[in-house]
Amino acid sequence: MLVTNRRIILTGGASGIGACALRKFVAEGAAQIYVADSNATGLAKVIRTLPAKSPVVPVEVDVSDRAALEDFLRSADAAMGGVDLVINNAGIMSGSDDFPATSLEAMSRVIDVNLIAMMIGTRLGIELMHRRGVSGVILNTASVAAFNPMPADPAYAASKAAIVNFTQSCGPIAASHGVRVMAICPGVTDTAIVPHDAEWLKPALARVEFLAPDDIVSAMLEVIGDETFFGDYVRVDNPVRTEP
Ligand SMILES: NC(=O)c1ccc[n+]([C@@H]2O[C@H](COP(=O)([O-])OP(=O)(O)OC[C@H]3O[C@@H](n4cnc5c(N)ncnc54)[C@H](O)[C@@H]3O)[C@@H](O)[C@H]2O)c1
Repeated sequence: MLVTNRRIILTGGASGIGACALRKFVAEGAAQIYVADSNATGLAKVIRTLPAKSPVVPVEVDVSDRAALEDFLRSADAAMGGVDLVINNAGIMSGSDDFPATSLEAMSRVIDVNLIAMMIGTRLGIELMHRRGVSGVILNTASVAAFNPMPADPAYAASKAAIVNFTQSCGPIAASHGVRVMAICPGVTDTAIVPHDAEWLKPALARVEFLAPDDIVSAMLEVIGDETFFGDYVRVDNPVRTEP
């Protein structure tokens, strides 16, 4: 499946990887894109950079509000007459790099935004597609943090590891419901979520080059287009620095 002429739902489109995906999907001729973000101002700013009459509908949604997220997904499906592609991409870090001092509230917000919202988007996305007989795609943004210990922000790493396992556990949905569920695992990508000046990140950033949002969106388009791929993840690793 390519994105051309497709009906798309995307979360976290106001910044970084999601904003880049939005631009690319418009350029590729998507039929319509319903894009949710809790940052309405940021989303409006991104929309202003798109060509006039782009088929994009921005909606202010906090994906940790379960009812609001479900309502957004159902409304988008109804308005577009179906959905071909759902990208559960909105994500946050805990905002603290001081575990175990990190508050339980901050950690559970990470789980709500990164994991529970992804589960809702996957579960309801499958239901909406299946109901209309759409052979669609659900793509979840995980992270290479899923595979490495992350002492500074264990809730973030755990949420991403859970996305990977949840996605792999959805493999059989391709056969039973005709929906391919998969995940993308970006390496460190130059966006607002990265605490660029954090001491704990400096050793890693000294070893590797940043990825650009465009690198991640290119990988997304590849897995979306690969009909043989489902129930698994693709890593996009950082290039290792060659000079000291
Ligand atoms: N940048 C990286 O190094 C990196 C690496 C691996 C994975 N990721 C993942 O990529 C995804 C996109 O992140 P990004 O790098 O583009 O960062 P970003 O901060 O630039 O974008 C994240 C977007 O999600 C939105 N968002 C946050 N909480 C939300 C909520 N409750 N409801 C709705 N929208 C919300 C933000 O407003 C923002 O627009 C995230 O899931 C992130 O965990 C990023």
